[in-house]
Amino acid sequence: MNYVRNAWYVVSWADSLAEAPTATMVLGEPIVVWRSGGELVAFEDRCVHRLAPLSRGRCEDGKLRCMYHGFLYEPRGTVVQIPGQQNIPAIAKVRTYPVTSKHGWIWVWMGDPALADEKLIPPADGFDDPAWIRGESQMDYDAEARLVNENLLDFSHISFVHAESLGAGMDYAETVPDVIAMPRGVRFERWTAGKPFSRTSFKATTDPVDVWQAYEYHVPGILLSRRAVFPPGTAAEFKLKCPDYSRAISEVTFSAQAVTPTSEFGARYFFGWAIHRDHGDEARRDRTLAALERAFLEDKVMIEAQQRILNLTPSPSVMPTVHDRGVVLFNKIVEELRNQELTEK
Ligand code: FES
Ligand SMILES: [Fe+2]
Repeated sequence: MNYVRNAWYVVSWADSLAEAPTATMVLGEPIVVWRSGGELVAFEDRCVHRLAPLSRGRCEDGKLRCMYHGFLYEPRGTVVQIPGQQNIPAIAKVRTYPVTSKHGWIWVWMGDPALADEKLIPPADGFDDPAWIRGESQMDYDAEARLVNENLLDFSHISFVHAESLGAGMDYAETVPDVIAMPRGVRFERWTAGKPFSRTSFKATTDPVDVWQAYEYHVPGILLSRRAVFPPGTAAEFKLKCPDYSRAISEVTFSAQAVTPTSEFGARYFFGWAIHRDHGDEARRDRTLAALERAFLEDKVMIEAQQRILNLTPSPSVMPTVHDRGVVLFNKIVEELRNQELTEK
């Protein structure tokens, strides 16, 4: 698994994390997330005694008790009670992970704890803003997270994989977005000018409009996307660059998505979508989220099938096109960060 370790990985939507210890998996490591007096704590999900999962344990006054033979852990990972034994060996300690809640997600830092810096959490700040009406969901993949990242880094597939569900037409395959490198990610900008905006699940227009979409893909696999519909002529007025969102006539929407490698051939995909209150309501949010869920199942079917072929291929090689610029750039950034981690070890 060639993924960056010094990065924040999404393990849960913040409001779906139960009070009880919750099992999760990142980069093949079992992790339990729990709360000690309201504070988030993340442990390796493996009791030091006989390796039972601590996620089957229970919280007791800010501590976590393994419910196999009763070892009690305080939030720094140290065992503070072994029922029936006075002596507690110094090695009775589990690994802990930096964990935090931000932008509606729970994030776990998988690398050197000394380097955990919350400023490296990608800015999914639309989700903190009450001006946006947000919905969220998730699904699991039997495929490498890398393949899901690559799917989200090349939207030309939308014209084919989602031809029916999103009714996207050929725009995505025929328009090549601008691709801009960032320190830990890639930014795409795209105008579709002077065409009717008609998607099955969205409000259709028959008159031509200009549609702006900007999306960023951040390490380790966080997509942040913003889209808005403008009167015709706006793309030219802003010289095909970022417009003033206050001039949008409809469809001011925001999406944040996260791909977390759970194991070598497994990933968990979190996706959220929000519409600005001035342009939609809860019913619209629910309709769109349901449509996106159907569309993302189409990605899952294709990517898992791709994985099965890859697994049958002794030395897989690919043949990138102009649409792969973002994929190539992002994979290069990941490789450089990973090599840097390995040489600094
Ligand atoms: S496995 Fe946890 S106390 Fe025995
Ligand atoms: Fe897709």
